[in-house]
Amino acid sequence: MLSQKAKAIADEIQQYVLDQKAALEAFRLKFLSKKGSIPELFDLLKAASPEEKKTLGKVLNEIKQLAESKFRAAEEQLAAAGSSASDAPDLSLPSVSGKVGNLHPLNATRSRIIEIFERLGFNVEDGPEIEDDWHNFSALNFPANHPAREMQDTFFVQKNPDWLLRTHTSNVQMRLMERQKPPIRSSMPGRVYRNEAISARAHCFFHQVEGLYVDKNVGFADLKQTLYHFAKEMYGKDIAIRFRPSFFPFTEPSAEIDISCLICKGAGCNVCKYSGWVEIAGSGMVHPNVLRNGGIDPEEYTGFAFGMGIERVTQLRYRVNDLRLYSENDVRFLRQFHTVI
Ligand code: DAH
Repeated sequence: MLSQKAKAIADEIQQYVLDQKAALEAFRLKFLSKKGSIPELFDLLKAASPEEKKTLGKVLNEIKQLAESKFRAAEEQLAAAGSSASDAPDLSLPSVSGKVGNLHPLNATRSRIIEIFERLGFNVEDGPEIEDDWHNFSALNFPANHPAREMQDTFFVQKNPDWLLRTHTSNVQMRLMERQKPPIRSSMPGRVYRNEAISARAHCFFHQVEGLYVDKNVGFADLKQTLYHFAKEMYGKDIAIRFRPSFFPFTEPSAEIDISCLICKGAGCNVCKYSGWVEIAGSGMVHPNVLRNGGIDPEEYTGFAFGMGIERVTQLRYRVNDLRLYSENDVRFLRQFHTVI
């Protein structure tokens, strides 16, 4: 009887699948715990004859060892699987966002300027940074040896014939007129160079966006309305703008464009030199000589042009008061513009 029972339990032990903690615990309770079937077998053995005790005792011990070693092996296996599961990535956690970088503030401003003019129908044009005297000066109505050339201290690459680093983006106006007939409506962003000592307010290179609109019947009112629109799009409805009479050889009449100082709101500060106004661009009606030099008949067409400083527009947008920061490449400065693209 007892030997049959022992054999049945041994078979049962062997069939048990211990792949989960709950199964392991059930196994322990069923076979090994105090009230389990193996201790019960040993209890029954007490009533057996001495003869039986000898043979069956050995069998029962083997069954006990079988159950214990099966239990221990399964326990170790489950523990190992559990710890490797905790090393695995938890896919339900929120992701760690990597640093993806951000636009340089000057590039962000340039894109915004281009976008505002694009919506008014201005396409984007490009031109060379190393330029000849004709396109940078002479064609733009700067007479030879005229003091106006000294307004823009020039880096020369070569003299006679003169090649230079363009002092403004107005050279692209000439290149554009040479290759395209009116109507012309373009914005021309780019880097320009001047031989100036570097300080918080001046740098030997900076950036401009030139604008040119040439067509039949373009008037000063178009220029004013276009730049009013620009200022309000860039800085919001409350911005004040004024046109101040000025001189440029390539425009007649000419005006400088000021906007109300956003840093002090007109109260006066060092950025606006305590005037409440900040200059952001030069502008005017394209001089007839310039149109003629570009192969356009000034009797048939008129146009307006403007050139604005990207650094200046950016400075007022983000309240940066030292120009040098834009080219020092200090990530502590650059990262601050992460959210303002
Ligand atoms: N080129 C001028 C400068 O760099 C800015 C300028 C003034 C551009 C008047 C223009 C303009 O197109 O019409 O100072």
